[in-house]
Amino acid sequence: MTSNTRYRLIMVGPILIILLNVWVASHALGKLFSAQRWLAHTLEVLTQAEATTSAMGSANNAVRAYLLTGSEEYVDRYRQAGQEAMADVDRVATLAIDNASQQERIATLRQRLTVRFSVLDAAIAMRRAHGAGLSNAALRPALKADSPDGGVSVRYMLTQISNEEKRLLGNRYAEAEAARRNVVLSFAAASLLDLVLIVLAFQQLINARRDREQLAVRAAQIGALNGELSGLNAELEQRVVQRTRELEVSNQELQAFSYSVSHDLRAPLRTIDGFSLALAEDFEDVLNAEGRDYIARVRGGVQRMGMLIDALLQLSRVTRSEVQRETVQMADLATLVFGELMANEGDRVVSFHAEPGVVAEADPRLMRVAFENLFGNALKFTSRTPEARIEFGQTVKEGQTVYFIRDNGAGFDMQYVDRLFTAFQRLHGDRDFKGSGIGLATVSRIIRRHHGSIWAEGVIGAGATFYFTLSG
Ligand SMILES: Nc1ncnc2c1ncn2[C@@H]1O[C@H](COP(=O)(O)OP(=O)(O)O)[C@@H](O)[C@H]1O
Ligand SMILES: [Mg+2]
Repeated sequence: MTSNTRYRLIMVGPILIILLNVWVASHALGKLFSAQRWLAHTLEVLTQAEATTSAMGSANNAVRAYLLTGSEEYVDRYRQAGQEAMADVDRVATLAIDNASQQERIATLRQRLTVRFSVLDAAIAMRRAHGAGLSNAALRPALKADSPDGGVSVRYMLTQISNEEKRLLGNRYAEAEAARRNVVLSFAAASLLDLVLIVLAFQQLINARRDREQLAVRAAQIGALNGELSGLNAELEQRVVQRTRELEVSNQELQAFSYSVSHDLRAPLRTIDGFSLALAEDFEDVLNAEGRDYIARVRGGVQRMGMLIDALLQLSRVTRSEVQRETVQMADLATLVFGELMANEGDRVVSFHAEPGVVAEADPRLMRVAFENLFGNALKFTSRTPEARIEFGQTVKEGQTVYFIRDNGAGFDMQYVDRLFTAFQRLHGDRDFKGSGIGLATVSRIIRRHHGSIWAEGVIGAGATFYFTLSG
């Protein structure tokens, strides 16, 4: 169940329960009202029945008074009481219209009343005919209270009717009582349910408040942590800025130092070179073979040192100069540099191919230095390969242009590939291939200054390929 549905149930559930409560309570109340209406109705029937009894009593008494006195006033009273009795019976009949057994009894009552009125009428007629001389004995049969057609029969029927109503009254009292109990019960149940709902609602409120408080506590904790963190961050940034500045200063010092060292080393080196040359030439006759050999070795060392100094100067220059990008015809530049390098290779035959039309956005001066080193290496490491082949081209890798220089020379062991681009690291001995170990470090620095990357693949005896990109 999703939390949304649950919340909807929590909202709708109580409303449904309250509606049910209202329905049950109003149903019980309706029953109670109807029972009470029936009670009132029954009491009215009873009252009307009693009124009939009383009217019939008055009629009987009026006739008796007439028989004794002969006063016509009593005859009037008799008629009036008789009419009242009939009207009361009519009312009882109307009230008990839906009770078939009562209707039967009322019909019998009407017959008895008719008979009774005719007996009373007969007695009045006899009194009129015979006057006061009429003996009581002659009248008795007509007035006999317990004769089948006498007042007792009428009273008997009225009692029957009243008894039936009293029986109904008992039932209806019981019904009203049950209805009242139901009302009380349903209200009690409703109140209890409402109480439970209120308790649940309070529970929810308390839970919600607790959750809110916990959230607030957590938010405060997070806020505090954030504050701490940003404090630490600021401190860290401050430290980074300071370290960077220190690093820049020491880098500059180092560069200046290496530049001046290389630069200053040149002068004495030139002196040694010049005088060793003079010594070799001017004192050639004086020196024996051993002396000439020593001088030759001195001059070889001087030349190597000169190369080293040049390389170091180039490296430091590459680091210091600004990168100024423009569109460089890479294939043309490669061909040009290769041609220049080939001028020092004597009569070597090397097959060369540069993919035409390759261009790049790069610093042309720095690109030239990179090519001098890369093609220089390619030429150097193919110097012992019979059919040397060097090529330049480009491919695309992961949507990025990758330039490459490939040769079929000495190659190298991939195990040491990581060392290639570190200054003074060489994978080949000086006896096989001479060098300073600074060239690839310079190339790597040029590529890094272009925000590119450089990597190499090699197979011992089968050649090497150097790849580079010129943007991040
Ligand atoms: N084309 C290549 N073929 C095989 N090995 C190479 C090639 N280019 C460079 N290397 C290896 O990388 C080393 C470092 O190169 P580099 O920095 O140019 O130094 P150097 O050329 O002075 O030896 C080289 O000594 C060599 O072992
Ligand atoms: Mg080199």
